[in-house]
Amino acid sequence: MQETLVQAFEQYFGLKPTYMTRAPGRVNLIGDHTDYNDGFVLPMAIDRHVWVAARPREDGMINLYSLNYESIVSFSTDKLKNPDQPHWTEHLRGVWYLLGERAQRPPGVDIMIHGDVPIGAGLSSSAAIEVALIELALKLIDRTMTQKEKALFGVDVENTFVGVPSGVMDQLASALSQQGSALLIDCRSLETQSVDIPARASVVVIDSAKRRQLTEGGYALRREECEQAARIMGVSHLRDATLDMVNRYKAEMPENVFRRARHVVTENQRVLLAVDALRAGNLRRMGELMNESHYSMRDDFQNSVPELDRLTSIARKHSGCYGARMTGGGFGGAAVALVEKHVLDAFMEDVKASYAEQVGLQASTYAFEPAGGSGVIFEAAPRGN
Ligand code: GLA
Repeated sequence: MQETLVQAFEQYFGLKPTYMTRAPGRVNLIGDHTDYNDGFVLPMAIDRHVWVAARPREDGMINLYSLNYESIVSFSTDKLKNPDQPHWTEHLRGVWYLLGERAQRPPGVDIMIHGDVPIGAGLSSSAAIEVALIELALKLIDRTMTQKEKALFGVDVENTFVGVPSGVMDQLASALSQQGSALLIDCRSLETQSVDIPARASVVVIDSAKRRQLTEGGYALRREECEQAARIMGVSHLRDATLDMVNRYKAEMPENVFRRARHVVTENQRVLLAVDALRAGNLRRMGELMNESHYSMRDDFQNSVPELDRLTSIARKHSGCYGARMTGGGFGGAAVALVEKHVLDAFMEDVKASYAEQVGLQASTYAFEPAGGSGVIFEAAPRGN
């Protein structure tokens, strides 16, 4: 990817890039819709990245070329808030704009972006774009941030500039993951711990090909319902509630609010149990927890869709599968399964075939090893040529 991007950059812009950065997508093993409730999540970065190559300019112009969209857009660093620019330029405009407000506005650039994180599948291509651009922008203004600060800055861009009320999981996973391990994140203290995945298991992502619909509306609504549940129980976040409390307050909550709270409270417990199971090498238990997590989202959080229910049920029936669940925001997107490594190929083929037969959609499967977090691939001070 690095070579291809350098060549494409040089071919289009006429000079080699002076900086290259990249950031990975992520898959969440367990712990969904817990991050903005101050709870626990267990994502891992995947070996799919957004790559950014750039060269600063002195005229304040940003010439942004996306190889994924095969499209070039030019605008001035004075016009970052222009709403007429295409949606896919928002992450860059947001990073430049907010850095300008908080530290120093980065200069104009010729910049090329290319990613192999599947878009719209729930693998956090947006967080990867943000984090890769933050890695670049900091170099351009010669500032440093910790990986945690970079991630939280990315969350700010997503929440305040792009306008999506997401939690902190995706950017933290993209910036902080360690190669070979999943990352337990306490979304309140922001403490993280690496959790190894036993070598005999593979993490398989299955993209349902059912694109997320009404995601933004559904996500924001769920978030409000969680806040409502916390208010009714008199806690600041659902992190502070127990299952007993949720049951005790049942009569005071609308049914949907009660269900959302029950999902979050039980899901937090499942994440911690999952960490214990992985550390004990108990893959069967890990698989059961993943299955329970799916049922909780299907029945209580109600952010699954029939295609994901069918897909995970097909996966679970395979003899080499420990467990499967939908992953990420929901309302479409991908599932994650834990599978015995020696049946990996058969698992992927069988699941795709049964899903095509039963649902009529062509799923894509990916076996991922846990990847490391974001970083700078190369930097060379521009010499004015
Ligand atoms: C999306 C958000 C995350 C998280 C998940 C659900 O991926 O970006 O912050 O809330 O949904 O777990």
